[in-house]
Amino acid sequence: MMKILVTGGAGFIGSHVVERLVEEGHEVHVLDSLLTGKQEYVPENVHLHALDIRDERVSDLFRDEQFEVLVHHAAQLDVRRSVQAPAYDADINVVGFLNCMEAGRKHNLKKVVFASTGGAIYGEPDYVPQDESHPLRPISPYGITKLTTEHYLFFYYKTYGIVPVILRYANVYGPRQRFDGEGGVVAIFIRKMMTGENPIIFGDGEQTRDYVYVGDVAEANILALDRELPGTYNIGTGTETTVNRLVEELQNQDVPKCTPQYEPGRAGEQKRSVLAATHAQKELGWIPQKTLSEGLKHTLNWFKSRASELM
Ligand SMILES: NC(=O)c1ccc[n+]([C@@H]2O[C@H](COP(=O)([O-])OP(=O)(O)OC[C@H]3O[C@@H](n4cnc5c(N)ncnc54)[C@H](O)[C@@H]3O)[C@@H](O)[C@H]2O)c1
Repeated sequence: MMKILVTGGAGFIGSHVVERLVEEGHEVHVLDSLLTGKQEYVPENVHLHALDIRDERVSDLFRDEQFEVLVHHAAQLDVRRSVQAPAYDADINVVGFLNCMEAGRKHNLKKVVFASTGGAIYGEPDYVPQDESHPLRPISPYGITKLTTEHYLFFYYKTYGIVPVILRYANVYGPRQRFDGEGGVVAIFIRKMMTGENPIIFGDGEQTRDYVYVGDVAEANILALDRELPGTYNIGTGTETTVNRLVEELQNQDVPKCTPQYEPGRAGEQKRSVLAATHAQKELGWIPQKTLSEGLKHTLNWFKSRASELM
């Protein structure tokens, strides 16, 4: 049993991680500003601290609770917002993160599991699937702050011995994904289909992504807790799926039929993205369990249970 703080634990991915940690018998605390996260996603037996990661009271929390592990999911993750307001992005993703790390290193923190990103860090692939040795060419402030955080984690390891386990996620989808946000294409499409609208596809729809189910991502976080040494791991399926294919897969489920609308491609949008997770398989024993079709079915069922909120 470990005492663990999950930042962003009231959010989409973080709340799934929290549920699994509780199942594993850990003592779990959540630190979340509830900016986009929801209190109802935090299980009742979990301590919720409604605080911003930049708040000076974070230090008191680490002092009082003496967390062994920090699972860091709180972030500004809207890529377009990061382009419009890079200082705001850095304030949360770098300064807020450092606020937690300074508190942690003063109060006996042993390990950090960090929610990083594959797509935004590697950039347009030299080869596919992209492994962890692929050149790192972030083109957005969001990608830059995620990569910067990775560098800081090695500073905290070298200087204070806090072990970093970095998980570079592919495109995560599943229940509780926001349908208004950046990266939530599955949720956005499901909402459109359920409300009788046509999904909008930018470009020809042949751009690819690697869609990984949130339950599998939560499992990677559980496995990361056992790591005694630093590590950086892609968390993706290795399967490339076009946007057109994603729409087909969704239409194979029990949803109203639709006709996608094609609009001009977005400037700078990456053409391909797919991650090799062989490293995670070998060192963490992580193997994604859900096929896209199974994962979409679970996701859709969740959205159906919340249908009134989609209108
Ligand atoms: N969704 C994806 O496909 C994806 C892919 C790669 C990486 N990630 C990373 O995974 C993490 C979780 O993303 P998500 O998709 O669950 O998003 P989310 O918006 O659902 O979760 C983020 C959570 O952080 C909280 N938060 C935001 N700013 C905060 C602040 N200043 N202080 C405290 N709490 C704050 C929000 O209230 C929310 O609960 C992020 O770090 C994101 O960069 C997500």
